[in-house]
Amino acid sequence: MLPSATYRATDFVDAAAKLGADVVVGSEHRQALSDSMGDRTLVLTLRQPLRAADQIQRLAERTPLDAIVAVDDGGTRAAAAASERLGLRGNALEAVERARNKASMRAAFADAGVPQPEYRVVRPGDDEAAIAAELGGPVVVKPVTLSMSRGVIRADDPDAAAAAAVRVRAILGEAGEDPASRLLIERFAPGEEVAVEGLLRAGELEVLAIFDKPDPLDGPYFEETLYVTPSRLPRATQEAIARESARAAAALGLREGPVHAELRVNGDDLVVLELAARSIGGLCSRSLRFGLGMSLEELILRHALGLPLDGMKREERAAGVMMLPIPRAGTLREVRGIDEARAVPGIGGVEITVATGKPVVPLPEGDRYLGFMFAKADTPDRVEAALREAHAKLEVDIA
Ligand SMILES: Nc1ncnc2c1ncn2[C@@H]1O[C@H](COP(=O)(O)OP(=O)(O)O)[C@@H](O)[C@H]1O
Ligand SMILES: [Mg+2]
Repeated sequence: MLPSATYRATDFVDAAAKLGADVVVGSEHRQALSDSMGDRTLVLTLRQPLRAADQIQRLAERTPLDAIVAVDDGGTRAAAAASERLGLRGNALEAVERARNKASMRAAFADAGVPQPEYRVVRPGDDEAAIAAELGGPVVVKPVTLSMSRGVIRADDPDAAAAAAVRVRAILGEAGEDPASRLLIERFAPGEEVAVEGLLRAGELEVLAIFDKPDPLDGPYFEETLYVTPSRLPRATQEAIARESARAAAALGLREGPVHAELRVNGDDLVVLELAARSIGGLCSRSLRFGLGMSLEELILRHALGLPLDGMKREERAAGVMMLPIPRAGTLREVRGIDEARAVPGIGGVEITVATGKPVVPLPEGDRYLGFMFAKADTPDRVEAALREAHAKLEVDIA
């Protein structure tokens, strides 16, 4: 399932080619080549998983399928429904639905005792200011269905929380979602954030990488920038992160395939912000290599196809990625300094993913990254330094 907004079509298609697997691309829109590709593309209603599963089942009667893999969040429910229907390896639809809705996820974590920020679910007409006051201190207001920090806003007092809720509802409308849907208000969890990349196999979580996010993420908007692995947190903390991530996946009922979790660590306190039934987004997976040069996409396809997964260990070197934030709204005129950024020792690549002349929108409304930079070095500190140095060379010209 390749949602049309994905950054990852090429990486998954390349991984499939490497494995000699034939691909049928399922997407919401007709592809330019749909007609000539016949049964190798399928236009699917990804938002209606049962309908998508019917469509996939009909295709599978003509063209048997060995695995159904969702790339990014958009296709996870359709993939789960279709995999259940065809008896293929995958997650239960209800488990994936819990993971796709932050209110259901919080409820599942609460039932299972997974540590998380204190939260309230609010509906239109609720008094968000009073609810924020009841939670106390700074809060985070967020939609339950979006991702990439879109619509996630910190509010330091009750009035700001009410204003944030109005803004989040407008963002939902722009995103084509229901502006009257539930929102979450949760206590702001201070501390250092980490991201966990993992693979579930028969309900067991294998941690593939723990990324530190060394830029402070204190809001009011939560632009993701730096990801660096291996984590520099103490071993015991990393073990606790792995343990709570596994409990979070189990609480949702997820059993197979990639997961991406985000947690915050504050001294001895650990909270799970979320766990998604997909791998890391954007082009970030390009920072990861396993065994003898296996990509994360290949690893995911191997798991889905039941192929051997020996050598799943990430390479020894430290690695990182910087998601280039969009500094302000306008039209992208030019990104200067790309060659200088590429020349910084340790930098493996700079990819600008917005074409010049296109409109750019920063968070919390925006839903795209300006681009991605990759680095490798002997230590995570050097990776971080290289990414910062390279970032300083870039000049983003927005009209
Ligand atoms: N309760 C919270 N406390 C502190 N930071 C938070 C909280 N909720 C979200 N954030 C910040 O906002 C980011 C995005 O929120 P998240 O719930 O992960 O939604 P998304 O699906 O958009 O990634 C997080 O990575 C984190 O930095
Ligand atoms: Mg998140």
